[in-house]
Amino acid sequence: MKTLTLIQPDDWHLHLRNGDILKTVLAHSARQFKRAMIMPNLKSPVVSVDDALHYRQEILQARPNNSSFEPLMSLYLTPQTSVEDIQKVAENPFIYALKLYPAGATTNSASGVNNLTAIYPILEAMQTHKVPLLIHGEVTESNTDIFDRERLFIDTHLIPMVVKFPELKIVLEHVTTKEAVQFVESASKKIAATITPQHLLFNRNALLVGGIKPHYYCLPILKRESHQQALIIAATSGNPKFFLGTDSAPHLTTLKENACGCAGCYSAFAAVELYAEAFEKENALDKLEAFASFYGADFYGVARNTETITLEKKLWKIPPYYGENDIQITPLKANETLNWKQT
Ligand code: DOR
Ligand code: ZN
Repeated sequence: MKTLTLIQPDDWHLHLRNGDILKTVLAHSARQFKRAMIMPNLKSPVVSVDDALHYRQEILQARPNNSSFEPLMSLYLTPQTSVEDIQKVAENPFIYALKLYPAGATTNSASGVNNLTAIYPILEAMQTHKVPLLIHGEVTESNTDIFDRERLFIDTHLIPMVVKFPELKIVLEHVTTKEAVQFVESASKKIAATITPQHLLFNRNALLVGGIKPHYYCLPILKRESHQQALIIAATSGNPKFFLGTDSAPHLTTLKENACGCAGCYSAFAAVELYAEAFEKENALDKLEAFASFYGADFYGVARNTETITLEKKLWKIPPYYGENDIQITPLKANETLNWKQT
């Protein structure tokens, strides 16, 4: 049987939630990934060092027995974030970054930032203390077309920010457009991007053709095919600025299949297999290990992992949902097949 062995990957963008959802999803990520950058957009956002340490404990307690999965924590940047908070983050061994959500851009982003220049003193402190900034890069004006929001964020906000803070490490999270790819490629070494499996495997047709498919609704929204192509080329190019970040974002099925469905695709159940499928289609399986396991660690300046995981080439059917009792989460590509399976 054909197999693929990789140094164990890390997920540089992961939503685990808390409570019962955390207990349902954590084992999936912990089986594949050694580490993950944990997103702070809980209903009550993770805004302080204490919040992050409490949340970290909750995650550690929910790990399966014998798991050595490491949650790398991030703080939610709000208009109240202070320079002292940044100092505390810089001194804390468990907190790696701050996440910037423009207010209103996505799930649980109401506490985010409306006026980006108002947080420049915080960005200055992050630059000084070498704390990376993770960005949900979309403008939020309600009259701006949803398919243009990432491109306009880059032009309006990101380019001036990078000019002002040339030494600040920035990850433009879950890039979805050719403009984002071009921006990251032409920027300095301080700028990198994560790419999700859904943006490599699908374009907006998956969401909209033949009926509205809420399980393909995520933010930034899936774009047209030419953008998907640009992402595939970037991910498989061997350029270390692009690395794995699933943005696996579990929501209850009832809240996705809803008149006002939540944004987010649940991919953690087989994230590496989904990426393998995308890389294999491009004949680039030889590029998967560095994308999944090396470039992110190198960017963050942490050691590469040493253990391995193995996938085997094997057709299997994705179940209709994961979870039990009240917790039912529909996975990406539910009821369809995947070509690879972790052993
Ligand atoms: O689709 C998304 N879901 N995009 C985000 O930015 C947030 C995430 C979530 O937390 O559900
Ligand atoms: Zn996310």
